Amino acid sequence: MEKLYTVLVIILIFSSTLASSRNVPAIFVFGDSIFDAGNNHFNKNCSVQADFSPYGSTFFHQPTGRFTNGRTVADFISQFIGIDLQKPYLEAQIAVINGSRKDYPSNGINFASAGSGVLQGTNMDRGVISIQEQLRQFQTLVEQNQIDKNLVQKSLFFLESGSNDIFNYFIPFDPPTLDPDAYVQAMMKEVANLIDQIYKLGARRIALFSLGPVGCVPARALLLGAPINRCYGKMNVMVKKYNKGLEGLINNIPIRYPGAIGVYGAIYDIVQRFLAIPTRYGFSDATSACCGNGPLRGKLQCGIEGYEICLSPNEFLFWDYFHPTEHAYKLISEALWGGNKSQIRPVNLKNLADITFTLV
Ligand SMILES: *[C@@H]1O[C@H](CO)[C@@H](O)[C@H](O)[C@H]1NC(C)=O
Ligand SMILES: *[C@@H]1O[C@H](CO)[C@@H](O)[C@H](O)[C@H]1NC(C)=O
Ligand SMILES: *[C@@H]1O[C@H](CO)[C@@H](O)[C@H](O)[C@H]1NC(C)=O
Repeated sequence: MEKLYTVLVIILIFSSTLASSRNVPAIFVFGDSIFDAGNNHFNKNCSVQADFSPYGSTFFHQPTGRFTNGRTVADFISQFIGIDLQKPYLEAQIAVINGSRKDYPSNGINFASAGSGVLQGTNMDRGVISIQEQLRQFQTLVEQNQIDKNLVQKSLFFLESGSNDIFNYFIPFDPPTLDPDAYVQAMMKEVANLIDQIYKLGARRIALFSLGPVGCVPARALLLGAPINRCYGKMNVMVKKYNKGLEGLINNIPIRYPGAIGVYGAIYDIVQRFLAIPTRYGFSDATSACCGNGPLRGKLQCGIEGYEICLSPNEFLFWDYFHPTEHAYKLISEALWGGNKSQIRPVNLKNLADITFTLV
């Protein structure tokens, strides 16, 4: 299997043109707060928000709905390719309906909704848009010919979700009925379905990102029984299990889905290096949040009354209780774009963007 996959990838790379990443005109983005560029802000029903100061203060100089102080990974990769940042779907939809836009954007669309998981029920009560619903939104646009099928085939597809499912598993007042293995299995089943749907809708360059070490986020201070002075090991064990299953699904993409390539972004391993030698990556603090309050500044969301903020956000790995700073996202983006197999495999995003599909 492994060998067949390698051969296929090599053929595709050799068939790529010398000209660079202009092969990719657009990115379609699905997932949670790691990617949300403002969908929740345009969803008035939703109580998971970052559309207030000081979110966005380092780069955009105003809140955008992004859950960090600046750009996300999807933003950086767009800049590396040389296309505009994707708008939130709900913003584009409002503009199309009210007539201020004629069409949906041709540089891709961001469907991500903070708080959502791969399990449909995760944070449903907080009004988030599930990843299944995000795909239905995309499907509707494709079926109504609001997005060109040719564009879909050339585009990059980013999927990143699962942290919220696993974090919620450890919230004591809503005890899960499944044991950890069965819970991760239920998550894998959803991811397999998502890949299946996205392929059927025409996606060919599919990047799935592993979860980071969720057990290390400052928000563990909210959980009874989680340690403060080190990462929450039990949570990271579950995260690693999920990541392993995810990589298995991705390795199967070229076999199950002819003509498609899937890459696995090893976010866990990338971030693990930051945690191991923070100063090498420019972090003076890789433990606490820059913005928030309580132990690890992990008990209160940044921007909520009573919050504190650090002087140099980009010296922190974590911006708020759950999310990395723009500096961390930049380093992660560079690793995904041009990194080696310890960071992203079987090929990096630059290679994935360069590939042309003349042979298939
Ligand atoms: C908002 O919530 C109401 C009541 O739960 C529901 O009827 C409505 O469809 C929701 N709107 C959106 C945009 O999700
Ligand atoms: C239409 O919607 C867009 C996006 O929300 C908004 O910026 C714009 O002001 C709206 N235009 C009109 C005429 O309502
Ligand atoms: C891959 O990149 C990382 C980070 O730059 C580096 O530490 C590692 O040695 C590289 N591995 C290989 C096999 O080149």
